[in-house]
Amino acid sequence: MNTVKLRRPDDWHVHLRDGAALAAVVKFTAQRFGRAIVMPNLKPAITTVAAARAYRARILAAVPEHMRFEPLLTLYLTHDTMPDEIDRARATGFIHGVKLYPAGATTHSDAGVTDIAKVYRVLARMEETGMPLLVHGESPHPEVDVFDRETHFIDAVLQPLLERFPSLRVVLEHITTVHAVEFVTHARAGVAATITPQHLLLNRNAIFSGGIRPHYYCLPILKRERDRLALLGAATGGNPRFFLGTDSAPHSQASKENACGCAGMFTAHAAIELYAEAFESAGRLDRLEAFAGHFGADFYGLPRHDDTITLLKESWVPPEVYDFGDGALVPYRGGESIAWRLAESGAT
Ligand code: DOR
Ligand code: ZN
Repeated sequence: MNTVKLRRPDDWHVHLRDGAALAAVVKFTAQRFGRAIVMPNLKPAITTVAAARAYRARILAAVPEHMRFEPLLTLYLTHDTMPDEIDRARATGFIHGVKLYPAGATTHSDAGVTDIAKVYRVLARMEETGMPLLVHGESPHPEVDVFDRETHFIDAVLQPLLERFPSLRVVLEHITTVHAVEFVTHARAGVAATITPQHLLLNRNAIFSGGIRPHYYCLPILKRERDRLALLGAATGGNPRFFLGTDSAPHSQASKENACGCAGMFTAHAAIELYAEAFESAGRLDRLEAFAGHFGADFYGLPRHDDTITLLKESWVPPEVYDFGDGALVPYRGGESIAWRLAESGAT
């Protein structure tokens, strides 16, 4: 297959940032995806409907005029979130999830949740109203090994949570392990997961190949080859619980190449192309369309798109850096080749 035509996909997990960074990156997402679930971990975090409304306007203002793109906003769950904020969020029609960051788990998660019991009243309202809970599923405690944080969270926090709120809709974001794949596969109805391109294409050796490679550092951290293979099996397996979420997370080159480098990989410039590589490696390009354009929309109760994009089997080399406002942004595969290219009609 040298050409793949897909119903226009959506990205169910992306970081677009704000200000000059937003202006630098949003076009990459809007070129490929019709909609995206936009993460709320700004500084200050998007904790209210008012903040989400203003952020949505800034995103739309940064989208190039000729592109059609619908940002789907999220709220950042804190101990101060009130149940009636969920009702207001529901009423907007543009807020589609509430994000749970365990405090200390990742970038800008310090305003997050230290004790899940403190947000039970909000979760109850979300369960009643059908508002999805989007979960960064890692236990941040120092005594938990960094490679075991997802597994620990699933067993210690998520499983009991799903029992306490049996109708709560939950997306376990950016899953990385065999354990998460098995957990989501067998979980009750209303539980789904997103999978990133880097977790389908790389294992943890990438972080240490010939030296320490900060551009492969993201959270949850890359795992073993057997985990990667389980994720590839889940993504390409046709199970509607697993769908596309890039977790594209841009940071400036200076904050990545640093004694204490930030977590996050930027993949938005080639997101669907990278998924095509992964699906092709599994001999399942035929399953890419549903993973990218059907299952997420169905989970969120949104219509599938009517238009299409086309991918060509033509290798190209992304630049080593993109402009990122007042710094540079190192994209995944910058200066290296990518096997699939977005056709012009789906581009600018
Ligand atoms: O690697 C990551 N980067 N993981 C996250 O959970 C957050 C993200 C970011 O915002 O940079
Ligand atoms: Zn993320």
